[in-house]
Amino acid sequence: MNKLLAWVDARFPLTAHWTAHLSEYYAPKNFNFWYFFGSLAMLVLVIQVVSGIFLTMHYKPDAELAFASVEYIMRDVEWGWLIRYIHSTGASAFFIVVYLHMFRGLMYGSYRGPRELIWIFGVLIFLVLMGEAFFGYLLPWGQMSFWGAQVIVNLFATVPFIGEELSILIRGDFVVSDATLNRFFAFHVIAFPLVLIGLVTVHILALHEVGSNNPDGVEIKKLKDEKGVPLDGIPFHPYYSVKDILGAVVFLIAFSAIVFFAPEMGGYFIEANNFIPADPLKTPEHIAPVWYFTPYYAVLRAVPPVLGSQFPGVAAMGLAVLIFFALPWLDKAKVKSIRYRGATYKWFLAAFVVSFIGLGWLGILPATPLYTWIARVLSVVYFAFFLLMPWYTDSSRVGKPNAKWFIVALVVPAIGVVLNAAQAKPLPYVTELLFFVHLACFVLMPMYLKGDQTKPEPQRVTDK
Ligand code: HEM
Repeated sequence: MNKLLAWVDARFPLTAHWTAHLSEYYAPKNFNFWYFFGSLAMLVLVIQVVSGIFLTMHYKPDAELAFASVEYIMRDVEWGWLIRYIHSTGASAFFIVVYLHMFRGLMYGSYRGPRELIWIFGVLIFLVLMGEAFFGYLLPWGQMSFWGAQVIVNLFATVPFIGEELSILIRGDFVVSDATLNRFFAFHVIAFPLVLIGLVTVHILALHEVGSNNPDGVEIKKLKDEKGVPLDGIPFHPYYSVKDILGAVVFLIAFSAIVFFAPEMGGYFIEANNFIPADPLKTPEHIAPVWYFTPYYAVLRAVPPVLGSQFPGVAAMGLAVLIFFALPWLDKAKVKSIRYRGATYKWFLAAFVVSFIGLGWLGILPATPLYTWIARVLSVVYFAFFLLMPWYTDSSRVGKPNAKWFIVALVVPAIGVVLNAAQAKPLPYVTELLFFVHLACFVLMPMYLKGDQTKPEPQRVTDK
C-alpha cells in the first residue's frame, strides 16, 4: 500500500493535497449547525449529477416525445420513479440548502474581507443554479414547464432595444418550441453543470486560501503556536469530516422521507399542472414559478409598468439578485459576526428575512391588488436591507436609534397601505399616498439613521 502511494505521489501530489485540504487543513473549532450547509450543498450537487445521468439515459429531448418519455421513466423504467423523484426533490433541496448557506454568510459576515471572492463565486453559483433549475424545468414538457418558460423568456423581450432579438435567441424560435427544448436540454445537461462544478471548485479553493470564518468572526490564522498551528484550529479530518457525515445522514433521512412519502410536496416541488402535457393553445389559469423563484417573481410583479414597459420590474428583479455581489462593500461594521453586532443590524436582518419569506409566499399567490401592495412594501424592505447598510452598519456614527421614529415613519404608513388596499372599496389615492410616505421614509433614512452599536470581537473563539 505504501509502495503504491509512493508511486502515485511521485506522479501526482495525492498526499500533498490530502494534507493541505484535509488532515492538516485547520478549521475553527467553533463551527455550529450553520456550517453543515456547505458540505450538504456539495452532497446535493453529487446527487443531482448522478440522478441526472440516469434520467438522461431514458429521457427524449423532443417536443413530441419528452412528456411521454418522463411518464415512461415513472412507470416502466426499473426504479425510474425513484431516480426522477430524487432529481426533482434534489432541485428544491438544493435551494433550501443554498438559501440557508447564504443566510449563515449574512449572520456571520462571511462575505467580508478577506472572503470577498468566496462570496462572489458563491453569488455566481447562485445565478448559475437558478439558470440550471429554469432549464431543467422545461424538460418534462408539461403545462407548467411550457408556460413558465414562456413567461420567463418573454421577460427578456422587455429589455429596451435588443429585447425581441434576445428572446428569439434564447428560444431559438418565435415561440417556445422543439428548438427551445433542445437547447435547454444542452444547457441543462452539459453547459451549466460544468460551469457549476468549476465554480464550486474555485469557491472551495478560495476558501482554503484564506480559511473559514466562524460564528465569532475570529481570524484563527492570527494566533498560532510554535509549530504554526492556529490556536483555535482543529484539523478538518477527522473532526469535521465526521461532523459533516453526521449532517449528511440526518439530511438524507429527511430527504428520503420526502422522496418516498411526499415527492410532490403538495404541489410545491412538482406542480399538478405539470402532469398535463404542454398545450400551446391552452394557457393555465394561474402561472407561478416553483417556490424557490417566487421571492424574485413577487418583486417583478410589485413594480408597475412604466410607459407600458415591464422592463422596470424585470430590472428590479435582476437587481434583487445581483445586489448580493455588492454586500462585501456595503457592510461598514467593525465586526463580522451577529454575536457582536448591535440591535440595529439584527432588526434589519430580521426584516430582510421576513420580506424574503413574505415575497416568496406572495409570489405563489395570484397578483390581486392587495397582494401587490404588500409585495411593494416588502420589496422596499428587501432593498433597504442592502441599500441602507452603509449607514446602519457604520460604527463611526454610533448612537441610540430612535425607535419611535422608526415605528411612526415606517410601520404606520405600511399598515395604512395594507389596510386601505384590503377594503372592498379602497379610499382613492390613499394607498398610493401612504406608500409614497413609506418609500420616502426609507430614502430619507440615511439622514437620521445611527450606526450600529457593536461589541468588540474576542481575540479567541468562545465556547458558546
Ligand atoms: C453549489 C453550491 C455551493 C456549494 C457546494 C458550496 C460549498 C461550500 C463549502 C463546502 C463551504 C465550506 C463549509 C461551510 O462553510 O459551510 C462553503 C463556504 C462558503 N460559501 Fe459556499 N457553496 C455553495 C454556494 C454558495 C453561495 C450561493 C454562496 C453565497 C452567495 C456561498 C458563500 C459561501 C461563503 C461566504 C463561505 C465561507 C463561509 C465561512 O467561512 O463562514 N456559497 N461553501
